Amino acid sequence: MKRLFIYVLLLRTLQAWSQDANPCFEYRGMHLDVARHFFDKEVILRYIDTMSQHHINYFHWHLTDDQGWRIEIKQYPLLTETGAWRTEKNGTRYGGFYTQQEVKEIVQYAAQKNITIVPEIDLPGHSSAAIASYPFLSCTKGEKTVPNSWGIFRDILCPRDSTFTFLYAVMDEVCALFPSPYIHIGGDEVPKSAWKQSKDVSALMQKEKLNSYESVQHYIMSRIESYLQTKGRRCIMWGEALRGGVSDSTIIMSWRGRGAGIQAARKGLQVIMAPRFTCYFDYPATIQDKKPAWWMTYTPIKKVERFNPRCRVLNAQQNQNILGGEATLWTEYVNTEQQLWHQLLPRLEALGKALCKQ
Ligand code: ACM
Repeated sequence: MKRLFIYVLLLRTLQAWSQDANPCFEYRGMHLDVARHFFDKEVILRYIDTMSQHHINYFHWHLTDDQGWRIEIKQYPLLTETGAWRTEKNGTRYGGFYTQQEVKEIVQYAAQKNITIVPEIDLPGHSSAAIASYPFLSCTKGEKTVPNSWGIFRDILCPRDSTFTFLYAVMDEVCALFPSPYIHIGGDEVPKSAWKQSKDVSALMQKEKLNSYESVQHYIMSRIESYLQTKGRRCIMWGEALRGGVSDSTIIMSWRGRGAGIQAARKGLQVIMAPRFTCYFDYPATIQDKKPAWWMTYTPIKKVERFNPRCRVLNAQQNQNILGGEATLWTEYVNTEQQLWHQLLPRLEALGKALCKQ
């Protein structure tokens, strides 16, 4: 019995050692949401500098969301003429966007610092700003505006031909700007109520033999994924994308916790772990920082220091599917550069050390 115990202990130690043998994860990411609040080119360059000082090698740039579309797309100029601006509750106009020239400069600067920028165009939810710019993208009629409040919005992209034409054009320009092997296409928090009431979606479901609204989401994501594959790019999607099925080449970014990542790694998919209880830097780090929103927990630095994207419940081979980890900085409650650094540091330093033991 005692021998068996020692044997198991030895095996476990060896397994843990082999899982930690690689000193640096291949993917060491930091994210920034520039949709909820916009940060200009100079701030982004400083953000890149700071990431590079802490072993981060991927910058996940969350460029589109309900409250703002932040990247110039020449074929669809209203995305930034209309979608980059919102009227705040006090009546002021708020917004901004990056011109393609600025994006090129930022991408080049990041490359000099050994950072690859992964752009995110969030589909098919979190798309109110795109819909306000081009209402044909929606399944519903009525007035469309760029929202000035936070949350999850029901108006999402409608899977019609015209929407795919739009998305392919957006992806053409995104791919021309970003040499990244990965493009993030979102897939998180997609309420299906607008699809349930749409005749066009019913017709699509019949035609394509889709038997659930999750399959409709998969239909959209996989069409965009296939399109991006023809350009030699792989897609990263948030964990919810697993619900409707994904392709073998999809990379899952697990954010609600580790569950989606574990499920994906078991299926043999590659995974980036960004579990919110450890990796959401918009959540306060200390009790002195008041929680600005009910959905937040505390993400103390000690937790970040201990972050290991690999999981005990996965075997060594499954753990090999975990490319690395990422922390996110959502900006609903981050509206100044000073607040941005406050949220980022020193947790970014802890993240860099956790992902790259030098
Ligand atoms: C997310 O936090 N909605 C990915």
